[in-house]
Amino acid sequence: MTGDNGTYRPLQRYAHITGWGKALPERVITNKDLAQIVDTTDEWIRSRTGIEQRHVAVDPDETTATLGMKAARDALHVADLPASKVDLIICATSSPEHIFPSTASIIQDSLGAVRAGAFDLSAACSGFVYGLTLANSMIVTGQSDNILVIGAETLSRITDWSDRNTCVLFGDGAGAVLLQASAIPGGIMASVLGSDGSGGDLLTVPAGGSKQPTTLETVASGQHFIKMDGRAVFRFATRVMAEASREALAKAHLDINDVDVVIPHQANLRIIQSSMRQLKLPTDKVFINLQNYGNTSTASIPIALCDALDEERIKVNDNIVMVGFGAGLTWAATVLKWVAPPAHDVPRWRASQRSATYSLARVRSRFLRFSRKVEGSLVAEQDSGWSKVLTDRISRWRGTKEE
Ligand code: COA
Repeated sequence: MTGDNGTYRPLQRYAHITGWGKALPERVITNKDLAQIVDTTDEWIRSRTGIEQRHVAVDPDETTATLGMKAARDALHVADLPASKVDLIICATSSPEHIFPSTASIIQDSLGAVRAGAFDLSAACSGFVYGLTLANSMIVTGQSDNILVIGAETLSRITDWSDRNTCVLFGDGAGAVLLQASAIPGGIMASVLGSDGSGGDLLTVPAGGSKQPTTLETVASGQHFIKMDGRAVFRFATRVMAEASREALAKAHLDINDVDVVIPHQANLRIIQSSMRQLKLPTDKVFINLQNYGNTSTASIPIALCDALDEERIKVNDNIVMVGFGAGLTWAATVLKWVAPPAHDVPRWRASQRSATYSLARVRSRFLRFSRKVEGSLVAEQDSGWSKVLTDRISRWRGTKEE
């Protein structure tokens, strides 16, 4: 495109959410259920947090990656995009499957997103908004066209179910969005990211990393579970949610009266109410669903987005603020203009086609694992003619052959 003075000006690119999805484990644990295992009551949990129930992954085969994959599949379905067109997968998580490989790479493999890069993002409950911000930068600078941003958690696996201070708060689940490049103005307009590492000890999983590697003692003393100073986190959260929202709005040249919907991190109803009072935002503009899920960390904002869309709380041209806080300490807010069309009906044959590609992805993954084993057993024979021909062929199948 040529500008007024004849100089070349690239087309402005915007990043829009065009697909969204969520996944929750089937098993629901109510406050009353929890009162059977720790010294608490339904009344205490409701009045101090607003939470009524949470979903928990009790099936060992249900993991952060499987939940993230289901949410991502739904997002691709809504956007009607094949996984092969995804350029990048960012999985924000506080309960990754492993230290490495990344949960994002496991999701990439299970989706058959063969062209996508993949990495995990660690910013605790702020992670999803961090991921959106990063994905937006990749899109507006022309590096990527289609990015999956996922928030996925199985916090129940790092929760001490005998600690009433924490076990009543958290839940499992995943949410995902597809961000796509577009020339239509709107989408993500401005973001604010923050961190104050001096508060790292207020919310932490002390052991299992490189500072305090797993030992019999760390396991025996429960150092692999979430530890939290609830009151200090509460004070931090009520201050930072309003500040970050205001800052992001100012960056987007909007003020609080321009906001149609706020989707806050769903940690505690009192934190949300206090922050919104500070912003002088009417409660009907705030979307809250924490009563159903508890605090699902990185997944809470994308799950809330899905529910807000289901309940038709979001309309075209709405200005939306997403704001979160979490361990680190971290905080993040983003302002976006919603221009995505409402979910359209994807023809049934295309949905079946897509689900067939996921089955193929499973076959492909198994084949790649098998081919690596075959290749490994041929290494000893590297110099013999037939073995070299075979390993070259396997590398070519995998697309890793160096020319
Ligand atoms: N059931 C019954 N009593 C409980 C309890 C439970 N599940 N958990 C704590 N209590 C008790 C405490 O032991 C304390 O008793 P004490 O006064 O005898 O010591 C009492 O309730 C009050 O504790 P307090 O910490 O003042 O409660 P609170 O009003 O601050 O609420 C939290 C506690 C954890 C709900 C609240 O501080 C909070 O939500 N903090 C932020 C946590 C968060 O969002 N973390 C995730 C960040 S992403």
